[in-house]
Amino acid sequence: MTSMLVDPLHYPLSEEGARYLASATFGHVIEGKVVPSISGETFAVHDPATGLQVARAAAGGPEDVDAAVASARRAFDDGRWRFLAPLEQERRLRRLSALLTEHAALLTDLDVLDGGVLKMYSRFLVQFAVDATDYYAGWPTKIAGTIPRVPRDVAVYATREPLGVCAVIVPWNAPSAIVVGVVMALACGNSVVLKPAEQTPMTAVLLGQLCVEAGIPPGVLNVVQGTGESAGAALATHPGVDKISFTGSAETGRIIQAAAAPTLKRVTLELGGKSPFIVFADAEVEPAAMGAMYSVWGGSGQVCTAGSRLLVQRPLHDAFIDAVVGASKDLTIGPGFDPSSQLGPLISEAQLERVQRYVALGVAEGAQLVLGGSRHGDIGWFHEPTVFTGVRNEMTIAQEEIFGPVMSVIPFDTEEEAYEIANAVEFGLAAGVWTTDLARAHRASRALHAGTVWVNTYQEVNPTVSYGGVKQSGYGRTLGEESIGEFTTVKSTWMKVSR
Ligand code: NAI
Ligand code: MG
Repeated sequence: MTSMLVDPLHYPLSEEGARYLASATFGHVIEGKVVPSISGETFAVHDPATGLQVARAAAGGPEDVDAAVASARRAFDDGRWRFLAPLEQERRLRRLSALLTEHAALLTDLDVLDGGVLKMYSRFLVQFAVDATDYYAGWPTKIAGTIPRVPRDVAVYATREPLGVCAVIVPWNAPSAIVVGVVMALACGNSVVLKPAEQTPMTAVLLGQLCVEAGIPPGVLNVVQGTGESAGAALATHPGVDKISFTGSAETGRIIQAAAAPTLKRVTLELGGKSPFIVFADAEVEPAAMGAMYSVWGGSGQVCTAGSRLLVQRPLHDAFIDAVVGASKDLTIGPGFDPSSQLGPLISEAQLERVQRYVALGVAEGAQLVLGGSRHGDIGWFHEPTVFTGVRNEMTIAQEEIFGPVMSVIPFDTEEEAYEIANAVEFGLAAGVWTTDLARAHRASRALHAGTVWVNTYQEVNPTVSYGGVKQSGYGRTLGEESIGEFTTVKSTWMKVSR
């Protein structure tokens, strides 16, 4: 598409957003500077709500990855960040948090324009980025070692050290949330090469600039733009990268793990899900129905923890579906900038086609389409909220991650049956349980194969609580104390103290 870029002033942007977008270039960030690709190539950035081109970004290739990794490596080796006093590292991370708050309106604009998310959801993402930065800003002075008990002829201390150059490869569904993976790695003393998704290149550039402004030395955070196949693959195989922290699809997660094998990089994988949202007949109907809706309509279903399999106990089934469908059929579908919108667009035409393919498959497999099922309008990439009932867990629409506003409803009779269905899927990211029976809530938590179990709530997140998956939802944990172990290694130092 060579069409003229849409003038950012056509959007209801914040004052700062309009100013920034009028002059910003979405290049790589290397050694603290925004630079074009060595090849000079660029690619189009689209607004999902209109399908129009709103900017161009640098198309990175292996040579740009080499430059970014070299920059990160120099920064690590000369210790400009890792050897700073821990208290000073904390101060600068807190400054970054203050800058994120100061530029919250701009970050929100970028999320909406680039990622198509609703403004309301974007505000949440930006606040989460601030919260996570505040949380990780507290860690540098607290990453301590241990003194093991050993025989008296030796003395040993174990120190926790950074890994080196961490590649952080992220998806497009929560642009401002990319801050989280970066500050986690920085708090542990690492250098970073961030590869944003090619659908959402904007926020990473701003983050690179704000880090420098906060006093995090140039070269400590580098950004490489470009596709997964080009920039992503070059990063995942690069011998100068020590660790890959990947968030995205299970399919690409498998490719990353294989790509990391020849150089034995450490890998953490935050992959997809097909999370069960289990409603027992004794549940409070209204909050459970609202929870079910927001778990799948939120982010237009493009959220890794979407509760996309709705399991409802039979005595409540019909009334519950009536409540969900009744409250969903009149949702306002529209652009993220419009405050009245309740469901935004999908990220791309490819994603819209993917959702439509699954809807057709659901019909062909014999599920009943009771709401939605079609593209909404012909401008932008919107899809109606869609509900299938009478789904059997073996169906493709119950097994594969759709990543769109599609709910697959599966009825069940007994508690044991609910857990059996819930666990009969390759993923294990999250699960929701709605019940007023306290003992059953605890039984459910024990029975469900998932990294997170929510009871009478859904999609709660806090920087102090570890997050991640089991089975093919990946491994390793972000957030919480566990995440420090993911970005550090332990060195044991021995000394002979008596002959
Ligand atoms: P993806 O997993 O391929 O992309 C995520 C990131 O990985 C992007 O930055 C991409 O450029 C990069 N990447 C892709 N191939 C790579 C490679 N060979 N080496 C290194 N990096 C690579 O996801 P994509 O293609 O954007 O979406 C496809 C489907 O994946 C979606 O329809 C959705 O179902 C699922 N998905 C799930 C996510 C989740 O959080 N659960 C997030 C994004 C996508
Ligand atoms: Mg892909």
